[in-house]
Amino acid sequence: MKMLVDSANISEIESLLDSLPIDGVTTNPALIAGEKRPFKQQIKEIRRLLPDHLPLHAQIIGKDCAGMMEQAKDLHDWLDGNVWIKIPVTKEGLRAIQQLSKENFRITGTAVYTAAQAVLAAKAGAGYVAPYVNRIDNEFGDGAGTVKTIVGLFSMYGFHCKVLAASFKHKGQILSVMEAGSHEATISPALFGKLASISRYRPGY
Ligand code: E4P
Repeated sequence: MKMLVDSANISEIESLLDSLPIDGVTTNPALIAGEKRPFKQQIKEIRRLLPDHLPLHAQIIGKDCAGMMEQAKDLHDWLDGNVWIKIPVTKEGLRAIQQLSKENFRITGTAVYTAAQAVLAAKAGAGYVAPYVNRIDNEFGDGAGTVKTIVGLFSMYGFHCKVLAASFKHKGQILSVMEAGSHEATISPALFGKLASISRYRPGY
């Protein structure tokens, strides 16, 4: 399973790239706003940190299809290389995904809470869907189960779309989506730290 960092913080991303086998970066508007720097400057700097073989999944902010398409095109103009545009899988988002994928944009359908949303995003042309595991756990009860269902449906119907599980609050959720067969997961720097640490280990013992 590929593991990406979910962050907009330059030094956290740099430090993780240096120390762990990281497969890319995801961001969202809330994470970027937390850095208190202009959106365009921050997103460009994040892309520059990454070698081209590592993807950046960058999220748009617009609410309607026209606004989402405009922002997707801005991101495409600002960022060189390996970029996936994250679009929430709403009714308007699905319209944008359908149109942008016809124009060969690479799209990640994000804020996915149900398998039905995931299938619709895949049919509309998304290359990834991002189910929000912790939020599903909180609202309906089984985030990893939803991931497993989506992976099974994509395989059963031959969709090329992949599952990038997101929104984790503890290590157990990450292990559960691995067992559920998620192709990828995006993880906060704080949780990466916990995954990499063995609390009982003491040097010399
Ligand atoms: C995914 O790409 C999102 O940025 C993120 O995982 C959402 O997580 P949250 O539930 O912590 O906001």
